[in-house]
Amino acid sequence: MPDVSAKRSEFLSFQPPAITDAEIAAVSETLRSGWLTTGPRTAELEARMREYLEAEHVLAVSSCTAALHLALVSLGVGPGDEVITSSLTWPATANVIVHAGATPVFADVREDTLNVDPARVAELVSDRTKAIVPVDLYGQPADLDELAALGLPLVEDAAHAAESRYRGRKVGSISDVTCFSLYATKNIAAGEGGLIATNRDDLAEALDDLRVMRRGHGSLYDIAVPGYKANLSDVLSSIALVQLDKVDEHAAIRRRHVELYEEGIDDLDGVEAVARDPRDGHANHLFVVRVTFADRDEVQRALADENIGTSIHFLPVHRLTAYRGRLAAHQPPLPVTERAGAEVLSLPLSPAHSDDDVRDVVAALRRVHARLAR
Ligand SMILES: Cc1ncc(COP(=O)(O)O)c(C=O)c1O
Repeated sequence: MPDVSAKRSEFLSFQPPAITDAEIAAVSETLRSGWLTTGPRTAELEARMREYLEAEHVLAVSSCTAALHLALVSLGVGPGDEVITSSLTWPATANVIVHAGATPVFADVREDTLNVDPARVAELVSDRTKAIVPVDLYGQPADLDELAALGLPLVEDAAHAAESRYRGRKVGSISDVTCFSLYATKNIAAGEGGLIATNRDDLAEALDDLRVMRRGHGSLYDIAVPGYKANLSDVLSSIALVQLDKVDEHAAIRRRHVELYEEGIDDLDGVEAVARDPRDGHANHLFVVRVTFADRDEVQRALADENIGTSIHFLPVHRLTAYRGRLAAHQPPLPVTERAGAEVLSLPLSPAHSDDDVRDVVAALRRVHARLAR
């Protein structure tokens, strides 16, 4: 048994990548193949992800940010339009709406899952609304049926949701467009990268044009639209393919670590895990608690002193400098988002961690709680 009464001797990183010799070998092989940009490894990744995500089309792109941006452009979102999303997200979710020339309108989130509240979205829909961008926060799918019932295109931000299921259906097979991230910390990590999944042939074709910028062979080419050059290189695709091989093994480790956390914090007043819907499959991308026993920032600093790295997902986007002066005139207040933004704390979660690492986090959090609980 590890000694859980004392501070860790080494700092525990919040979300280190789980990279082994297999990924290193795959990259070497790709480099030796002479094919560095989009090529056979990327085609293989798209084919395997079509199967994994149970989607008709999957396009590999340079990031989830690019995926979301291209999705909005493919749907014709542009100046004068509004797109509804939540503010408790990574800024990219809203930035892409601005990139498309449209205005983000933020709907408040549900108190339990912190996903966008369909009732609040419905109140904000107007003639100007061209799409909804729900985020599957932490790996819990958003309320996709209720949102789809509003009759607007859904561009799902599934950056956290590679393995998620919504009411038994794979995330990626449901919305008009679903966007995934292959960023360094994600459940399928290539360092950088993104995937677009859609069952709509018209959007798949438009997205392909927007992504690569070029049609034709050899020196005879034509372009259908001024594209964005957002394709993914084979070097990164080769890493993602190895990560995909391990996705179930990694999911089992994440699940076990979440269970250890849930058991370990169960009796702590003022530390509450963000709710999950038992009807859905959660990707366990992040394990997030709401801290109310003391000031969240103080708790985060105390955990850092205990050599435990944590993170915050997220600071509300509408409060960030870039969004000052950019909000819609009819932007409503977001009380649930703002309270959650001050309380959420993400605990370390990675298949690179051991069970004992997680036990160390629980022990450190319990010591901090004993010291700071007001
Ligand atoms: C909710 C959410 N959406 C979008 C993104 C953007 O992903 P990427 O870094 O692949 O562009 C992130 C990245 O962390 C995210 O957390």
